[in-house]
Amino acid sequence: MSKSAELAALIRARAGDAPPQLGLILGSGLGHLAEEVQGVAIPYSDLPGFPHAGVSGHNPKLVIGQLEGVRVAVFGGRVHYYEHGNPAEMRLPLEILRELGCGQLLLTNAAGSLRADIGPGDLMLLNDHIAFAGANPLIGEPSDARFVPLTEAHDAEIRAGLSAAAKAEGVALPEGVYCWFSGPSFETPAEIRAAKILGADAVGMSTVPEVILARFLGLRVAAVSVVTNMGAGLSAENISHEHTKAMAPVGAAKLERVLRRYLRNL
Ligand code: HPA
Repeated sequence: MSKSAELAALIRARAGDAPPQLGLILGSGLGHLAEEVQGVAIPYSDLPGFPHAGVSGHNPKLVIGQLEGVRVAVFGGRVHYYEHGNPAEMRLPLEILRELGCGQLLLTNAAGSLRADIGPGDLMLLNDHIAFAGANPLIGEPSDARFVPLTEAHDAEIRAGLSAAAKAEGVALPEGVYCWFSGPSFETPAEIRAAKILGADAVGMSTVPEVILARFLGLRVAAVSVVTNMGAGLSAENISHEHTKAMAPVGAAKLERVLRRYLRNL
């Protein structure tokens, strides 16, 4: 049995057989949403071989249960490329989601904005991305399935559903391009200017490997950024992980409203 099949069986034994309709990966400072799900929480440490999210501000457990009447699988934290240098670290969790019969994935992250009209506390819906970190989670994958088309990687239908939900909630949800930097150091002002010239609207240290892996695995995927700061050099504010964790809840409250409405509409 494959590792993902083994872990999916373990998860089903604890949380029940019904397939989750939506998988949700929570970014830095957004782990609180995992507490809102009525269901079974499984610490990552109970899932042998499961990558441990070692970043403060994450909530390292998988919660499977109901949110707004929809069965969801919520990952309270993710592993980042910058933790071990392996961009494929989230492959097993996403394989497990597929194994559980989950069809769609929503990724969330904390990000820096490059746009004057999107500020700290605002949300941005990704309509495309730039893998500026240069790594790819499918390097070493031997099958021809590795040649994944990413022309429409960010699912149009999920995006439309999220936009409608945001509109109904009166929450601004502009679309934009997310540029993936490896981190863990923040960007320099010159890198932020470069990213802007390349066509980016926001920058962050996650999400892109998971979008690529999700498409490889045939999961429909979309992603929302919670903006915690302006990109380096664009404002006088201090950029730090502490600041990210302090600011994330502002946008997280909006994200939760949008997500709850999206689920009710499913
Ligand atoms: N850059 C990269 N990642 C981030 C930022 C940023 O400015 N803010 C929150 N996560």
